[in-house]
Amino acid sequence: MSTIAMANLKGGVGKSTVMLNIAVATVEISRRTNPAARVRVLDMDHQAFATAVMSGRDPLELKATVATMLAGLTTYADTVLRLEDLPWLDEPARAAWAGIDLLPSNSRHKLQVSTVTEYWNLRELLGEENDPDTVATFLDCGYGRTDAFTLAMVAADHVIGVTSAAEGGLRGLVDLRRELAAMRPSFGHVNDLAGVITTNFDLRNGPDREILENLRRDLGELILQPMIPRRTVVERAHGAQLPIAALREESARELTSYFQQLAQHLIERTTR
Ligand SMILES: Nc1ncnc2c1ncn2[C@@H]1O[C@H](COP(=O)(O)OP(=O)(O)O)[C@@H](O)[C@H]1O
Ligand SMILES: [Mg+2]
Repeated sequence: MSTIAMANLKGGVGKSTVMLNIAVATVEISRRTNPAARVRVLDMDHQAFATAVMSGRDPLELKATVATMLAGLTTYADTVLRLEDLPWLDEPARAAWAGIDLLPSNSRHKLQVSTVTEYWNLRELLGEENDPDTVATFLDCGYGRTDAFTLAMVAADHVIGVTSAAEGGLRGLVDLRRELAAMRPSFGHVNDLAGVITTNFDLRNGPDREILENLRRDLGELILQPMIPRRTVVERAHGAQLPIAALREESARELTSYFQQLAQHLIERTTR
């Protein structure tokens, strides 16, 4: 079972969207062979977008978060939300998120580390709290070089970069790789990116097409296929607090198939 961080030092590039839909796709694929398979998601961003979408709650109402858990104020069992068991979710939402264990965040609970050894704490905790049916753990990172970012990079076995065509996103990817290289002397297991997911590109738009071609040329095999195109169904899914796979329209089916292909590639790349 591996821990995979979705990262970019810049915000708004599509990390949370990619992470939560790939988490759902990973459950779907894994349950074809093990009906009890589960996926764990840690919201490492105090802006808590993934928490808001997946938990169906205002994150500020949640008293137990990754931050309280790492501070020793809540246990793992107190903190984890088994999404299909949440009493406030309606039946379609429970079915759509079934198999996901969410460790949430909120904007009042900032992850802070006071000594360098504490950067290992999350990695150690995830190692202790693993059950054999959990096939993967996904970390949804926020933006910037925060303690939460470093905790996530140390906890991860693999880091996947996520970028849109935005200039900031491309720079955030370069900065991320530099940051990973800078961590290596202190944290020997931290590797370079295991892959890059491209998302929210508009291929009817000349500049986006050119940026995607340049990325594929510069990064080659590192780029995971397919690219996730810009579609309005993404905002609709977020508004309904559902994964895209739960929506019925044609564009939802298209994106669901792409997320499944990406999930399959991630499984192959991170278990090699
Ligand atoms: N493929 C897409 N098509 C349309 N909108 C998207 C797509 N991916 C992301 N978005 C939108 O872009 C915004 C930023 O996405 P988000 O996943 O929150 O990024 P991050 O986690 O990197 O901050 C959100 O409003 C989201 O709905
Ligand atoms: Mg996010």
